[in-house]
Amino acid sequence: TNRLILDTDGGVDDAQALLMLLANDRAPFAITTVFGNVGLDAATANILDVLAVAGSDIPVHAGADRPLVAPIVDARDIHGEDGLGGAIRPDSAAEPSGLDGVGFLVDALLEAAAIGERIDILAIGPLTNIALMLRLAPEAVEGLGTLTIMGGTLNGRGNITPAAEFNIYADPEAAAAVFRSVPSVIVPWEPCTTHLLTGEEVEAAFEGLAQADVTQFSLALAQHARRTSLSYGGADVLRFVDPLAAAVVISPEIVTTSLEASVDVALAEGVTRGMTVVDPSFRLGTPRARLVETVDETALRALYARSIAG
Ligand code: BDR
Ligand code: CA
Repeated sequence: TNRLILDTDGGVDDAQALLMLLANDRAPFAITTVFGNVGLDAATANILDVLAVAGSDIPVHAGADRPLVAPIVDARDIHGEDGLGGAIRPDSAAEPSGLDGVGFLVDALLEAAAIGERIDILAIGPLTNIALMLRLAPEAVEGLGTLTIMGGTLNGRGNITPAAEFNIYADPEAAAAVFRSVPSVIVPWEPCTTHLLTGEEVEAAFEGLAQADVTQFSLALAQHARRTSLSYGGADVLRFVDPLAAAVVISPEIVTTSLEASVDVALAEGVTRGMTVVDPSFRLGTPRARLVETVDETALRALYARSIAG
């Protein structure tokens, strides 16, 4: 198995995804942060806090604080003002490394390439850091293993706009640059809306667990996700968004259905800006991507159960 870097914008489900990686033997050796759900500083502080809850000292490198060209958008309406739905956690005394996240990605992949290794990347925020890495050092692809991305849609119905999913919309130029230059495994929005736990299933999952810090923290994240779903007119559910992408990285065989296609991003101003265009007939000419449609639900739930058990 290749070593892993997690690239994250520090939101509620990013925290759940990180806990899932840690609990299931797929800890990243480094984490890079990016603006997105909240600003870069908050995203970085949140990730350090999650690591503190989990008792981990994985180094965190802060990356891009803004999109390549687009104006900044965030998702504090979904993730709460602090990005973690107000979940109580220790205020970590740890600091980010002081290295620039993009520079770190470049160096890590070039060093891996030099010794004949490849590094997997799981990107669960806007793709700005990945695009900047590829722009600064196109040869870094020689050190890139599997790039797994939570982002985009299969069928053009988004969440942040009618056509666009948040991670792509937050930096469409970066996403386009990534999809146009490297193959990837994509976890689009649609399967994230169907892989979920009902409120009752969340209660049952936590019932009887010892009150470890990780468990209490995970419960606060899950309850926030349920409240958010309800307040946006949805059902009382916890959807697996970034954790679905983490599950695919932990256990690639968990994927039961996927689609091979070329993928690009609509960049023009207007209603389609940030929409992913998915072409299974490969006419777009971009590198082959694999889009996850369904995963083994039982296995997914087991990965989640482990992540909340502490
Ligand atoms: C994506 O955007 C963020 O709000 C979530 O963390 C996830 O990465 C869903 O569109
Ligand atoms: Ca995210």
